[in-house]
This record gives sequence, structure tokens and C-alpha cells, in this order.
Amino acid sequence: TDKYAVIGHPIKHSKSPFIHAEFAKQCQQDIEYTSIEVPLDSLASSLQQLRDVLKLKGINITVPFKEQAWELADNLSDRAQRAGAINTVMFENNGSMFGDNTDGIGLCRDLENHDVNLKDKRVLLIGAGGAARGVIAPLMTYQPAELFIANRTASKAKKLAELFADLGQIQGGGFSEVNSHFDVIINATAASLQGEVPDLPASIFTEQTCCYDMMYANTDTAFIEWAKKHNVSKTVDGLGMLVEQAAEAFYLWRKVRPDTGSVMQKLRDDMQ
Ligand code: ATR
Repeated sequence: TDKYAVIGHPIKHSKSPFIHAEFAKQCQQDIEYTSIEVPLDSLASSLQQLRDVLKLKGINITVPFKEQAWELADNLSDRAQRAGAINTVMFENNGSMFGDNTDGIGLCRDLENHDVNLKDKRVLLIGAGGAARGVIAPLMTYQPAELFIANRTASKAKKLAELFADLGQIQGGGFSEVNSHFDVIINATAASLQGEVPDLPASIFTEQTCCYDMMYANTDTAFIEWAKKHNVSKTVDGLGMLVEQAAEAFYLWRKVRPDTGSVMQKLRDDMQ
């Protein structure tokens, strides 16, 4: 039995053990996947222990360790390199730590699952933390007409826009600099966790706008509630992204692709 785990702080409510157990059943993979809370101040030694004592083959990494783990990885995939954060680790036979980031591809797959098309569209990405940074390069592969990164702290959005400027038409700024409407709006802030919505004008929405919240909850998130109030054409929460990023990690480790739709359905049913 090969062993895997998700680490974070806190980690109690992680759905990853359930998701990977479902994938393993489906694909007849003999694996064990648990969740482990890691102390905030000892990521490096914890990773070593997970490898050498618990003999894990791979790890998923969640808040707040993604950036720090990126620093600690021995090798990185190209997409992880650019993301500045990793959510997936594979321990190689020689003990070295390979880091990958499957969040961006997870978001892209879920946008496709929901027929949200970005090509030639005006896209608004809200937030400029690790979650936002990780999805910019993957989003730009669809060649949107424009990506505007809006953040409460304007300077962080401007910095991100500069960092990815080689990939296309990308601008960044504060919420007050946003004064037009968008075809697709993606919320990558943690605001929904506090039941808050970003302080943006309602003029970002039209009846054609698609809204995606990278957060999810049992009920509509604050952001999705707000978008619905403005009669947008479609709203999607981040549960599908969670399952898709997990599927991509599972593929990296096991070289088989699980079916994600059935697992999403089970999670939705459980959340009722
Ligand atoms: P993550 O890894 O989840 O992105 P982070 O790097 O701490 O976490 O970034 C959190 C993001 O959510 C930031 O863009 C933050 O805005 P600031 O850069 O101005 O701090 C944003 N955020 C958090 N709470 C928010 C709120 N109540 N309203 C608007 N933005 C919020």
C-alpha cells in the first residue's frame, strides 16, 4: 500500500481524503490517504518526517504552506515554477522532493466542465494572493482579450500583472480602478470565508457575465449570492476545482486519470 496525505493548518475539514479514497476505489489503486496537521513553524522538518518516518510517496499541501513548500522543493514542474506555490509533492526514489501545482489546471478543467469560455473574453480576477497567482498562467493559455487583476491592496495586483505581462494583455489595480463590466469574473480572495464580498462596483456584472468563486460552502458563498443578485448568467463555486486539482495530483502519482464527475456528485450529495 502506497501512502499519501494532505497537510495543512488547520486540516480537519479537508475533503481530500474522501476524494482520493473515491479515486482509488474507482481506479483500483491500493493507496492510503490521510490528513495531517503540521505545526506552523516546522514545515521543513515535517516534510522530512513524512518522507523518512511515515514513508509517504506523495503529499498535497494546503493553506498556509503552499508558498513555503515551493521554497523547499528540490525540483519543480514548469507550471509550479511560475505559480510560486505548490499543492502537490512527489517524493522521488532518491528521496528528492518534486513539487507541482495542479490548482491552475484544476480551475481550467472546471471552467471547461461548465462551458465557461475565456477566448477573447474580458476576464476579471479578484485577489492577488497565492491562490490568484497560481491560476494566472493557466488562465492566459485560453487567450482572453484582457485579464484585469483587482485587489484590495492595489500594489499587489500591479506587481502580479507585471510578473505575468509576457503572457498577454494583463493589468492590475485596486478595486476603485475597476469601472467596466466583464464576461468572466473569478474570485480568488479569501473574502467569502469571512462572509464578505470584495468592495467592487456592481457595474462589473452584466446578464451575460459568468462568475466563479474559488471558495465553496454548503450554501451559496457571499460572492455567489452577490453575483446572483445582479442576475448574472452563470455562477459556479470552487468544489469542482477542488476535485479537478485532486485528480491531476492523483494522475501525477498513479498515472491513471479518475472520473471526476461522479466524485463531485457524491460531495454535493453529502453537503445537502
Ligand atoms: P491565498 O493563498 O488564499 O490567496 P493570501 O495570499 O493571504 O491567501 O491572499 C488573500 C487574498 O484575499 C488577498 O488578495 C487579500 O487581499 P489583500 O492583498 O488586500 O490582503 C484578499 N482578501 C482577504 N480578505 C478580503 C476581504 N475581506 N475583502 C477583499 N479582499 C480580501
